[in-house]
Amino acid sequence: MKSFATAAEFKRYRVDEKQPGSTLAFVPTMGALHTGHKSCIDIARGEGDLLVVSLFVNPTQFGPSEDFDAYPRPLERDIALLTQWGCDAVFAPSVTEMYERAQSVWVDVEALTGCLCGLNRPGHFRGVATVVTKLFNIVEPDVAVFGQKDAQQALIIRELARQLNMPVSIKLSPIVREADGLAISSRNQYLSGAERPAAAGLYRSLECGRDLLKSGERSRQAVVHSVRRSLTGSGIQDVEYVELLHADDLSAVDPVAGRVLLAVAARIGATRLIDNMVLEVGAEVRERLLF
Ligand code: PAF
Repeated sequence: MKSFATAAEFKRYRVDEKQPGSTLAFVPTMGALHTGHKSCIDIARGEGDLLVVSLFVNPTQFGPSEDFDAYPRPLERDIALLTQWGCDAVFAPSVTEMYERAQSVWVDVEALTGCLCGLNRPGHFRGVATVVTKLFNIVEPDVAVFGQKDAQQALIIRELARQLNMPVSIKLSPIVREADGLAISSRNQYLSGAERPAAAGLYRSLECGRDLLKSGERSRQAVVHSVRRSLTGSGIQDVEYVELLHADDLSAVDPVAGRVLLAVAARIGATRLIDNMVLEVGAEVRERLLF
């Protein structure tokens, strides 16, 4: 596997290695790789002839009181994993390489950012959309794969690619879970031994909402209340949001029908975790991929 720290070096590699008519599949990450990333990489491998992964902890998507400095950066371990997982190239730039000039051009996807994580993390999605645009301009992928755990992010990036006419197809990888249902995330490693069992309560609360819909309930408020009750029943008091929205455009849905996103965010101790489930609600209720 080849490793590049500058855009210029990566671009030279791309010119040399990408054959005419072949496809380049890309998985952007912030490193601290886990099986959730591996699932994106496995999907990307099936989509492209060249498989490229980026490792970059992007400062512009962290708020001033968030964990940018503490965010894990196990670079050597990540590179060893990417080699083992059969990636062709890794792009791991420095902050100066990505933000050589003070950033004054921003990409803001207005339509999808005024709810869920967008409400409590001002500027977060602007930082994500901007760095993904920069990475797409450097890597020039034909296909890029994102995880459904960050469902709002995936919708925003799909919209960004559509509205800015980017020649890239956005694919999704399903959420990967621990045996007790906890969605795999780089931030799980912040959980203490005592906090870890409570964290599985996030998934149980989603199951509770799904089961209520399966039993025939179609009131948004009733489902949201039962998910909240389940969270507090699991000892999760610090709930940021429980929401049920149309899965396509994050608009309000009541009564609940069609493809919906049931999403939760909560703090377990100091660790902020998110999780979601996409459900097709009709005569029956079935779990689905976001897109
Ligand atoms: O999901 C992530 O890891 C990040 O938000 C991304 C897409 C790599 C942008 O920094």
